[in-house]
Amino acid sequence: MSRHRVLVRAKLKFHDPCPVLTFFEEANCEVAYLPGSAPWPEEETREQLADMDGILAGGDYGNPFTLEKAERLKVIARSGVGYDRIDLDLCSERGIVVTNTPGAMADAVADEALALMLALIRRVFEGDRQVKAGAYAVTVAEDLAAMTLGLVGCGRIGAEVARRAAAFKMRILVYDPWVEAAAIEALGAAQVSLDELLAQADVISLHTPLSSDNEGMINADFLGRMKAGSYLLNTARGPLVDEAALIEALKNGPVAGAALDCQATEPPTGISLELVRLENVIAMPHAASNTITARERMALWAAQSIVDCLEGRVPEHVVNKEVLDRL
Ligand code: 8YV
Repeated sequence: MSRHRVLVRAKLKFHDPCPVLTFFEEANCEVAYLPGSAPWPEEETREQLADMDGILAGGDYGNPFTLEKAERLKVIARSGVGYDRIDLDLCSERGIVVTNTPGAMADAVADEALALMLALIRRVFEGDRQVKAGAYAVTVAEDLAAMTLGLVGCGRIGAEVARRAAAFKMRILVYDPWVEAAAIEALGAAQVSLDELLAQADVISLHTPLSSDNEGMINADFLGRMKAGSYLLNTARGPLVDEAALIEALKNGPVAGAALDCQATEPPTGISLELVRLENVIAMPHAASNTITARERMALWAAQSIVDCLEGRVPEHVVNKEVLDRL
């Protein structure tokens, strides 16, 4: 039997031997491990996909350009949860199964959200810069226990953020129309409307997938309704935020600071760059899931999906379920 060919476009060699590559080897797959460095170039990927059966995708490869020559491709397995840059209709039309790894990175992303929240509120980077420059000014912040956290979105990642924030004794409000009030209460949080969340939260943290419905939802109206002196955290997706409006809200209020793991343009250029350069912004290079545990788990789940698919089984996390009828 000829071996299945799999393109790996994600960094996953953290141990020697690498468990993911060993898994593929044992499943009789021939792997082209070409992680390069993110953002992974689409043009190169398009050429490489020409003779592949599957791709383990660190980026969201699945648009008319990258798939142009991918005649053999049966599965795109995202090593990650978001699939906002994959053309699902096109994949379904072409019989390509798209999978993701929900939950695999929930701890890692929640850890980073808390790290950003603490650094932002306690002005860790500002203090560090001052001390290194020979200054020693006093800044007064606030206890997390005296603050209210508002979560926009409470899926697997939002729930982990809630658990951590509860340990810091924060009051937690959740706006998520798709989650039952009982599940939110079990986290020690309260379900509220978006209006209530905006009126009461001292920190708002975004944990919702990006879709055409919510792109730019953090706009001038949303920001204008936030509490004076409040903070915004984004470890979800950059395009959720209207960045020009956020710049305005950070310069003239009501927003005191923002911590942004991701930006509308990555790496940032133009307005995104202007935003991340503001003094009251902390920015990260879309790194919330960058822990060895999360990366390995994401890649292993994605590898399992690829092998399942190539061996004729239905993988656990299929995103474009309609494709299954066409197989
Ligand atoms: C990854 C992510 O860093 O899971 C996602 O959707 O945004 C991140 O966990 C990114 O997808 C690259 O693998």
